[in-house]
Amino acid sequence: MSLEKILSQGAKFIFVGGKGGVGKTVVAAAIALYSANIGSRTLLASLNPVHSLTNLFREDLSSGNIKKIGSEGELFAVEVDITDAVERYRENVSIRLREFLKWAEIPLDPTPFIDIATTNPAFQESAMFDKVMDIILKEGKNFDRIVFDTAAVANAIRLLSLSNIYGLWLKKMIESRKEALGLRAQLSFRKDEVLAEIQKDPVMLDLLNLNDKFTQVKSILTNPSYTKFFFVTLLQALPISVVVRFMNSVKSYNIPVGGVIVNQVISEIDAEKDESNYLKSKYEEQLNYLELLKKSVGIENIVGYIRQFPRDVVGLENLRLVVKDLIEFKFK
Ligand SMILES: Nc1ncnc2c1ncn2[C@@H]1O[C@H](COP(=O)(O)OP(=O)(O)O)[C@@H](O)[C@H]1O
Ligand SMILES: [Mg+2]
Repeated sequence: MSLEKILSQGAKFIFVGGKGGVGKTVVAAAIALYSANIGSRTLLASLNPVHSLTNLFREDLSSGNIKKIGSEGELFAVEVDITDAVERYRENVSIRLREFLKWAEIPLDPTPFIDIATTNPAFQESAMFDKVMDIILKEGKNFDRIVFDTAAVANAIRLLSLSNIYGLWLKKMIESRKEALGLRAQLSFRKDEVLAEIQKDPVMLDLLNLNDKFTQVKSILTNPSYTKFFFVTLLQALPISVVVRFMNSVKSYNIPVGGVIVNQVISEIDAEKDESNYLKSKYEEQLNYLELLKKSVGIENIVGYIRQFPRDVVGLENLRLVVKDLIEFKFK
């Protein structure tokens, strides 16, 4: 199926992933630009720890605010900033920890524990996942389509796996909180009062809200009429093997696969013109890898090709050329 067709069938939430440096940012931006050109109000959201949209659009997006890009159609972009989410987490953890130490009558300064809990990478990633949930639920109302430029594979997979363990973790937390509150109710002589307190327990409310948010996002992410995950590869051994593994993990999280986009191909015409024969042999090599890709992911999953351009893709005018290839260019 073509990208054009896939987008025309919906695909409100699009994720773009692949090995580092294969062109995820360029492809995500091209899909977003195409989407805006066909009349969809589109948000391009970068989830990379090191952002690159600012460079691509020559526009300062580092504030973490949504900004309009160019003047053709309604294209917007944002480099997602997790500092406020991390800060919010930190406050939450800190309140809970202090509450617990007081309750257990342990005279300890909680600061070092809070630091340990909030500076590890897993914490940063769950803050990112929290942000993605917010964007899906909030910005999903303001935009027709949101394209996520995901970080390198390892990060993206952890982000996805979070979507699985998050649910389990929440269930456990809610159960154990219920148990703890239940125990307090049993031990107390004023049962009615304690039960009333449980109803407005802030920790419980937090957990239930989070669970509600998570359940909504999970149903969106696993619904093929809302979500599509695209993979970018080059016609080389390593990026192909990365895509194959990545695709399997995306499938195992029940996230619908949109297809594979092949970047930086050398066309037959360009290869023919090259007298040094370098491009000709490159072209032949690509054909072999294309066979491998077709066998590995299925020919029906290859949805577009983009040629290798002479320069880096920077600015809207270059991005337009990428869009054109993505929609029209036939490699083989
Ligand atoms: N088809 C292409 N032709 C020429 N340069 C490209 C092409 N695709 C990507 N690039 C360049 O390659 C570099 C890596 O692309 P990028 O989209 O940032 O990769 P990723 O996001 O996967 O790390 C960038 O400098 C980009 O401009
Ligand atoms: Mg990138």
